[in-house]
Amino acid sequence: MDKIVIEGGRKLRGEVEVSGAKNSALPILAACLLSEEESVIENVPDLKDIATMIRLLHALGAKAHYEAGEITVKPGRDLKPVAPYKLVSTMRASVCVLGPLLARLGEAEVSFPGGCVIGSRPIDLHLKGLQALGADLQVQHGYVIAKAKRRLRGRDVFLGGAFGSSVLATGNVMMAATLADRKTLIENSACEPEVVDLARFLRKMGAKIQGEGSPRIEIEGVKRLRGARHRIIPDRIETGTYLVAAAITGGDVVIQKSSPEHYNALVDKLTESGVRIEKKDGTVRVRRRGRLRPVDATTLPYPGFPTDLQAQMMALMAVTPGISIITEKIYPDRFIHVSELNRMGARIFLEGNSAIVHGVKQLSGAPVIASDLRASAGLVLAGLVAEGRTEVRRVYHLDRGYERIEEKLSRLGAKIDREKE
Ligand code: EPZ
Repeated sequence: MDKIVIEGGRKLRGEVEVSGAKNSALPILAACLLSEEESVIENVPDLKDIATMIRLLHALGAKAHYEAGEITVKPGRDLKPVAPYKLVSTMRASVCVLGPLLARLGEAEVSFPGGCVIGSRPIDLHLKGLQALGADLQVQHGYVIAKAKRRLRGRDVFLGGAFGSSVLATGNVMMAATLADRKTLIENSACEPEVVDLARFLRKMGAKIQGEGSPRIEIEGVKRLRGARHRIIPDRIETGTYLVAAAITGGDVVIQKSSPEHYNALVDKLTESGVRIEKKDGTVRVRRRGRLRPVDATTLPYPGFPTDLQAQMMALMAVTPGISIITEKIYPDRFIHVSELNRMGARIFLEGNSAIVHGVKQLSGAPVIASDLRASAGLVLAGLVAEGRTEVRRVYHLDRGYERIEEKLSRLGAKIDREKE
C-alpha cells in the first residue's frame, strides 16, 4: 500500500488547476442510464471512485469508456437491474443508480449501503422519495429491491431529514421523476452545485426540470430521454483544499479553472481569519503574510460551510493562535481526524458535535492514519506546515477523491512524495 510522505515547512507558491467535481460526475454517470443512447461526459477526474462507477456501469450491462478526462457511456437496451454488494460496499455513491434503474427498467436491486467511518449515513430519504413516486420497496438479504408495476407517477415529495436536505437523495428522486408520468415537486431539495449540474445534464437529455439550486425542484416527466454531452463543473472541495493549503503555509497561490461562486462560505471564513483572497478574470489568488486569527465555523448544507472541508479547516485552526470552534451539523461523528491531528501536536478537544481547537505554535510531523477522504486531506495539509516528516497512511482514501494531489502540491513547492509501505 502507498503512503504519502511530506517534509513540512515550505510555503506554497504558483498556480494550480482544479479538476472536475467527483461528486458531480458520479450521479451524472448514473444519470446516463436513463437513456439507451450514448452520452459523453467531459472534465471527469481520474479517480478511484470514478473507476468504481465505470465498473458498476459495466456490471449493469452498459458500455463505458474513459479516455483523457472524457467518459463515453452507452447503456443500450438490455440493462441489468442489479448493483452488487462488491461495488456498492466500496463506494456509497453507487446508490445513485437506484433512481435511474427504477425509472428505466421498472425494477432495481441495489445493495444497501452500510454505514461508514464518517457516520451512520442512512438512505431513508432516497427510499421515501422513490416510494412516493409509486415504487414498491423492500430490503432483502442486504439489498434494496425496488419494483414499479407501471410507470412511476409524479407527486409532491418532502425530502427533509434530521440533518436537513440530502444531495444524493435529491439526485435519485429527480432522476427517477424525469421519466415518471405527471409532475413531481421535490420540496427541501438540496441546493448544492452538484445537484444543479445534474439537473443541467438531465435537461440536455430532454428532461423538463425547473428550480434546481433552490429548495423546490419541479420535474415534469417525459416518455424518453436522449443521450447528451456535458462538461462537469470544477470541484469546489478540491479547490477549497488548495485554498487552505496556501493559507496554512503562508503561501501565495493562484487557483485556475475553479468556480468561485461555489465556495463563498470558505472564502468568508478564510478572510475572517486574515487570509487575502482576490478573484480576478476567472482566477482566484490566495495569500497570507501575517498571523492567522481564530474563527468559528459550522458545517451546513450549501450554501453553508461544507462538511467536506471541515477536516481541512481544522488543520488550519490547529496552527491559528487562540481558540477556534468547528461545529459539525451534517455528520456529527465526522471527527476521526482529531486524534491523528493531536498525534501531530494539535490541541483539539471534542465536545458533542463540536471540536474546540486551541491553536499551537507548531505541529510536529508524525506517522498518521487516514480514515476517510477528507480527513486524509486535512492530515496532508497539517503535514505541509508541520516540522519534520509526516507519513499519511491508507492513501487509497485520498485517491478516491483527489486527482494527482502530490503532483499538484509538488508543483506549488511542497516536498511531498508517494512511497510504497
Ligand atoms: C454527498 O453525500 C457527498 N457525496 C458527500 O461527500 C458529502 O459529505 C455530503 O453529500 C454532504 O454534503 C457525494 O456526492 C457522492 P447527504 P450524500 O445525503 O448525498 C442525512 C466526500 O467526501 N441523510 O447530503 O450521501 C445524512 O446522514 C463525500 O466526497 C439522511 O438522514 O450526503 C447526513 O446527515 C463524503 N437520510 C445528511 O443527511 C438519507 O436518506 C446529508 O447527507 C440521506 C441522508
